[in-house]
Amino acid sequence: MVQRDHMPSFAVQTEQRVYENIVERGAIRRAREFVGARCAKCFAVTTEDVWRLHGEKLRTQFPDGLNVLFFPGGEANKRFAQVETLAEQMLERGADRGSIVIGFGGGIVTDVSGFLAAIFMRGVPVLQIPTTLLAQVDAATGGKTGVNLRNGKNLLGSFHQPVAVLIDPEVLSTLPLNEYRAGLFEVVKCGIIRDRALFELLEREPDRVLEREPAAVDALIAGAVKIKAEVVTADEREGDLRRILNFGHTVGHAIEAETEYIRLLHGEAVAWGMLAATRLTELLGMLASGEAERIRRTICRYGPLPSVRDLQPDRLLGRLASDKKTLAGKVHFVLPTKIGEVKIVSGVEEAVIRKAIAETLERTS
Ligand SMILES: NC(=O)c1ccc[n+]([C@@H]2O[C@H](COP(=O)([O-])OP(=O)(O)OC[C@H]3O[C@@H](n4cnc5c(N)ncnc54)[C@H](O)[C@@H]3O)[C@@H](O)[C@H]2O)c1
Ligand SMILES: [Zn+2]
Repeated sequence: MVQRDHMPSFAVQTEQRVYENIVERGAIRRAREFVGARCAKCFAVTTEDVWRLHGEKLRTQFPDGLNVLFFPGGEANKRFAQVETLAEQMLERGADRGSIVIGFGGGIVTDVSGFLAAIFMRGVPVLQIPTTLLAQVDAATGGKTGVNLRNGKNLLGSFHQPVAVLIDPEVLSTLPLNEYRAGLFEVVKCGIIRDRALFELLEREPDRVLEREPAAVDALIAGAVKIKAEVVTADEREGDLRRILNFGHTVGHAIEAETEYIRLLHGEAVAWGMLAATRLTELLGMLASGEAERIRRTICRYGPLPSVRDLQPDRLLGRLASDKKTLAGKVHFVLPTKIGEVKIVSGVEEAVIRKAIAETLERTS
């Protein structure tokens, strides 16, 4: 970690690129620094709501004008056709190989703009300015970009590392509470997989966190971004270390798919998935019940989670086997063996998985 202006910055080092994730109130106002001479050919991709709320801070840095391209937003629009439309709009406004894309919005915008930059004229740089908590702690960094196909989420994509990620916690003040809480579950995840102190902050200070007290929010974002940056640096592609970030996602993805991506936010599905994985670890005798209870209590404190009582364990089990991250037909689980540590386990007996899922679905969070 390097200190810049007393705010934390976390480096990601990959073969493709070395870049900083800067966590700083007012970071949006530093966009110009990272664009450099490409200023005239800068294309911000954003949604109308984000632009209305926060666009001014970006626009004022480009006195000669900034090309702003609007994306309709929403998971249903995270499609290749939209990437094509954006690319055509770029060309109409004079974009060329020397252009740069700025992704300014939630995870949908950062995924789409990253992918657009990855393939526009075989690749131009992208500067990511994420504006949801989920995008700040997860989607905008790490270089994974892409769009959905009718057959599934994120099935078309590319690794394209940004030139920098500017994380401005101030923008979260306008984020709807359910979106904020959904992002918090990814932070809880980071604590459970790799940082006991981060978990304990969430456990100890739920009121400060839910009220979005700046010091608490900044500490949570820094803690989570630090982990994501370390993991991506150690393991850029989906290797073993990067897989620990999938804690809660095995069952979480199955729940999202089973509810057709409309009933739950991603973070909420992950929260259910973390509860299931925690119960599974306990059933396997790999996690002390006191630790399991602390995990459950902390997750539920950031709820309530939408009920999933009506889902059928067998249908979720069926979906686990067809997950994109299933390797050679084996379901891999990321299991917490204590708060701050996980193990990746495969070959777990189906009956135990079914029991963990069934018991979890019956909970009210
Ligand atoms: N590439 C990765 O590694 C990665 C990781 C995790 C998630 N993702 C992707 O991220 C996407 C989800 O992202 P998300 O949860 O940010 O959803 P999102 O992009 O849909 O944003 C949620 C909503 O909040 C609005 N919004 C954004 N910033 C705001 C602000 N500051 N104030 C008020 N409203 C604001 C958005 O316009 C949108 O309506 C999914 O498509 C997922 O696949 C990618
Ligand atoms: Zn996630």
